[in-house]
Amino acid sequence: MSEFTFLAGDAHWWRQAVIYQIYPRSFADSNGDGIGDLKGIISRVPYLKQLGVDAVWMSPFYPSALADGGYDVDDYRDIDPRIGTLAEFDELIDALHANGMRLIADIVPNHSGSGHKWFQEALKAAPGSPERDRYIFRDGKGENGEIRPSELASHFGPTAWTRITEPDGTPGQWYMHLFASEQPDWNWDNEEVRADFRKTVKFWCDRGVDGFRVDVAHALVKDLSNGHLPERQSYDVSVMKNDGTDDLFDRDEVHKIYASWREIFNEYNPPRMAVAEAWVHSNRLPAYASEKGLGQSFSFDMLGAGWDAQRVHELAANALQRAKDNGSSNTWVLSNHDIIRHATRFGVDGQFDAGKWFKANRFNPKVNVKQGLERATAMTALLLALPGSTYLYQGEELGLQEAMEIPDELMQDPQFFRNPDLGLSRDGCRVPLPWVANHKWFGFGEGGSHLPQPEWYKNYAVDVEDADPNSTLNLYRKAIGLRKGLETAEELTWIKHWFSKTILHFKRPNGWHSITNFGTKPVKLPKGRVLLSTLPLVGGKLPANATAWVQA
Ligand code: GLC
Ligand code: CA
Repeated sequence: MSEFTFLAGDAHWWRQAVIYQIYPRSFADSNGDGIGDLKGIISRVPYLKQLGVDAVWMSPFYPSALADGGYDVDDYRDIDPRIGTLAEFDELIDALHANGMRLIADIVPNHSGSGHKWFQEALKAAPGSPERDRYIFRDGKGENGEIRPSELASHFGPTAWTRITEPDGTPGQWYMHLFASEQPDWNWDNEEVRADFRKTVKFWCDRGVDGFRVDVAHALVKDLSNGHLPERQSYDVSVMKNDGTDDLFDRDEVHKIYASWREIFNEYNPPRMAVAEAWVHSNRLPAYASEKGLGQSFSFDMLGAGWDAQRVHELAANALQRAKDNGSSNTWVLSNHDIIRHATRFGVDGQFDAGKWFKANRFNPKVNVKQGLERATAMTALLLALPGSTYLYQGEELGLQEAMEIPDELMQDPQFFRNPDLGLSRDGCRVPLPWVANHKWFGFGEGGSHLPQPEWYKNYAVDVEDADPNSTLNLYRKAIGLRKGLETAEELTWIKHWFSKTILHFKRPNGWHSITNFGTKPVKLPKGRVLLSTLPLVGGKLPANATAWVQA
């Protein structure tokens, strides 16, 4: 199994890493069934190597009914046969390691899929049985238990409770699911559940996985004591308590679980890393990123920053301070499989509200594509210059826009169906990648694409961008390559421009400057060698909507 000595040893590789997220079913299809697979990813290892990333984070690849794109896991210690086999998984790890890259697996501990063996056993067992105790089953209210146990909404809408039919055919108990009904929540008060997850963590560590991305890491422990059941309609952080006593999210006790995983991670060389997907108040993030816990947590602040120098500055400075106080390193994120691609977001002026925008624009998107791409790459270059690790999402290196033209009947996102009022779908960023412009499925595979690829994808295909020295792909390659050579202490100095509030400028200890022009007029660059500019300079100046790196 994969334990490459040349990669072992560096316990801090993740602190300043560039990590590339792969949504496996939409990356590359090797056998023409329309679904991306492990062999497809293996075939693209040279592409990843050329891009220069340090690690790959793979969204779930486990057996799943795909009620939520694989985040409904039916077996935590196996591979979806449509995606591949464990032997191919080993092959992928070996191929990545041999090329100097790491692999981060997605682990989904808040809920399983409803096809999970233990959920199926729970359905067959009696109320109050040990089988039911692994999940959150409760009797309904009302004379015949016909009223749901509490007024708790699902994150995807509407309710978080589903009633089952008991084995004898009568309407029975209800179970809690914070997400889709095919995603029953685990009962983390149950010791068997805890032990089984430790087994899963160990299983993948033994297989050579270098780290984990922990899905909804803040939700596992809930206050269900003395018959209490949480009730709430919104999962917004603003309605969450920020002191560890919220009854549904971010409870202090959750860190005990991660401390026990940390013990396992530290048995390996190098210790396995982990990053928490925790949507919590920022004062609560450090606990997830503690070295006694997962070690790192996503900071999603930049998603809401918009195109605003002051705001980006404030958010970056706060996030860096937080990470520093905690001994962790910050994570920068602009896109992932859950949000509208940032090239599209930046093509829309003003505060971006995904739900409202999607509804109003679905059939006639008003996006300034040029501005969107310029600002998106400027922001990416800015974040790549900051201390910390940067998470990239597949396709952003091509400058892909959100695919808006998916008809209702081809949508897959449960959120789209469970919450028709919102009508928001995450499928537009999950459309299979374009590799070859002149090909029926844009080189994704030979047998179609599980989500329809729009016609304009051809302009963003890898072969087209590869051949164009000014493409987004070549810009990403250059920026990531340069960054590697520029690695320096995890510090920075902000440089104020008294004449402008629309320039964001900082320098790293080795004299590496990053300047972003959030204004409308070209600005002068500091003295030194221009290493990179996301747009061509105009008379030696940095144009609007661009970032430059200068070596002083
Ligand atoms: C996380 C995932 C998202 C998924 C949800 C439920 O937020 O990123 O894709 O739907 O958890 O597992
Ligand atoms: Ca396939």
